Amino acid sequence: MSKLAINGGTPVFETAAKVPAWPPADPETAELLKEIYLSHAWSFYGKHEVAFNEEFAAYTKAASCAMMANGTVTLEVAMQALGIGPGDEVIVPAYSWIATGSAVVVCGATPVMVDIEPDTLCLDPKKIEEAITPKTRAIIPVHLYGSMADMDKIMAIAAKHDLFVIEDCAHAHGSEWNGKHAGTIGKVGSFSFQQSKTVASGEGGACITNDPELGEALGRISHIGYQYGAVQGQATAPPPMGMISHNYRITEFQAAILRSQLRTLRADTEFRARNAEILRKRLNAIPGIRVQAPGRCATLQGYYQFAFMIDPAVLKEGIATKDFCAAVRAEGVTGCGSSGWGALMYRHRLWSIPENLYRVASFETAEDIVKNKLGTMSLSWLMLSEEEIHKVADAFEKVMAEYSR
Ligand SMILES: Cc1ncc(COP(=O)(O)O)c(C=O)c1O
Repeated sequence: MSKLAINGGTPVFETAAKVPAWPPADPETAELLKEIYLSHAWSFYGKHEVAFNEEFAAYTKAASCAMMANGTVTLEVAMQALGIGPGDEVIVPAYSWIATGSAVVVCGATPVMVDIEPDTLCLDPKKIEEAITPKTRAIIPVHLYGSMADMDKIMAIAAKHDLFVIEDCAHAHGSEWNGKHAGTIGKVGSFSFQQSKTVASGEGGACITNDPELGEALGRISHIGYQYGAVQGQATAPPPMGMISHNYRITEFQAAILRSQLRTLRADTEFRARNAEILRKRLNAIPGIRVQAPGRCATLQGYYQFAFMIDPAVLKEGIATKDFCAAVRAEGVTGCGSSGWGALMYRHRLWSIPENLYRVASFETAEDIVKNKLGTMSLSWLMLSEEEIHKVADAFEKVMAEYSR
């Protein structure tokens, strides 16, 4: 057995893996950004914003898309457009980025945290109903990392209790459930284009919907009340009285970058999904490692991270998942890290919301996985050649051979 690189042995990747820089950049988009700069037309329903809205709606087969400043305000605007506010409760997964819950608080409503499934790591439909009260108005499933929440079951629960479903698709660009793009199954789909994301423009977000009236409201609320496509200073039709709106606009620079990435999204998603399948098969064959399961009805799976779980019972005494990941990194898989965001949403360091403003309904599975088992590998590691993907798996095998009991 070869000595682990962390102990001075030769790493599996003797020469560095060819990991593409993220987010991607290309000369044509750089030229386009210069053109926009020199055009003096930088914002306000500009040609790239309008074009991206149309192109992303066409890509996802939604009736409309409204670009916004980021994937946090998209959640806020979605709830506001649906009339969710003080006195209402919204079900969210106990494990997600803090924005999924804090956006609910910003709307004046109460996030109710519900546990995740042990395989997909997404909101557990079996635990939703026990968290529903007469105040519940909506469910926000998060399609986490590289999986999709069980939309069939969640939609059935929502229909039974007359609840809205807002899909948090911040990690799910390109994902499809039974052929339907993520974000088009619930009432609204909310996307983030922050720079770590699968489709990225530094900052940015969008809501998609198939409800024309809602689509109009999403556009107006995020564009200080202006109707879709309006020219600055020329509001032809005023917003309805009581529709309190914001300036959550995006710029032309961001929209142009996103348009260029959208052109390759399908091919890139398929490429990453193929690599993820190879890795999944190889890693699932290692006793003690279990890769996050893809969405049960995912016909195409988009990836934001490649997540896996290590069973602490198979590791030698004194070795934890974080040590395992450090040893894999030393083998040259530098994108391998332990534990995602490191804590449940309401235990994250940046969670500053007092206990009386949220409710925890269930969390045991999420807690166990996040505390003891979770590891992730960043998106750009799924962009390697097939040969290098096999070397990534070799690194996991090598470390487990040394670290298992
Ligand atoms: C699940 C989830 N929802 C929402 C967001 C918020 O997106 P943004 O950073 O664009 O505000 C993120 C960001 O990481 C996220 O991971």
